[in-house]
Amino acid sequence: LYNAAIREVRAKLETLDEEFHVRYNHNPIHHIECRLKTPQSIFEKLKRKGHEISVDSIRKNLTDVAGIRVICNYIEDIYTIAELLLRQDDITLIRKRDYIANPKENGYRSLHLVIQIPIFLSDRKELVPVEVQIRTITMDCWASLEHQLMYKSAKALPDYLRAQLKECAEAMNNIDLKMQSIFKQL
Ligand code: GTP
Ligand code: MG
Repeated sequence: LYNAAIREVRAKLETLDEEFHVRYNHNPIHHIECRLKTPQSIFEKLKRKGHEISVDSIRKNLTDVAGIRVICNYIEDIYTIAELLLRQDDITLIRKRDYIANPKENGYRSLHLVIQIPIFLSDRKELVPVEVQIRTITMDCWASLEHQLMYKSAKALPDYLRAQLKECAEAMNNIDLKMQSIFKQL
């Protein structure tokens, strides 16, 4: 079910990207990454959050078993893609977190959507949640390096390094804004 949901949403995103290319000669999407949460990771998350370990519990408590990361070229592409996806009448928005308008304390930026899509099986229809993270190449670069650094350091980073990492996020945001401005002037 979750794999089917990933395939469906990915296809929708690719269709939008292709249409934009034909219509405006611009691809809003740089690339798409999909991941299915592993049983191990599902187990750990349920345990960490104090939920029961069962298939029912996964359905009830986890919205990120199916995950899609959409890496866009420019900041405005993020909102275009989100709006066009949410406008489709088989997609329901469950939750939206705009970490671009409101970056996280550490500097993290991305637009997070949890959507629901119907999957048709032989005997029934299931509504399946998919977590969609939409970000620019620059935001993805920061998030990827930050993730590695946190992973590498094992314990929390000291304040002065966290501050430097946040400065990088701000600097990268300025670059995103500048690149977008160049693109729009072209
Ligand atoms: P979870 O319990 O982890 O699912 O958090 P949440 O339900 O509060 O979701 P949220 O939308 O805040 O973030 C979930 C996902 O976004 C994470 O699994 C990461 O992929 C990404 N993410 C969120 N915050 C950060 C961050 O500070 N750094 C990086 N590198 N990724 C982040
Ligand atoms: Mg989550």
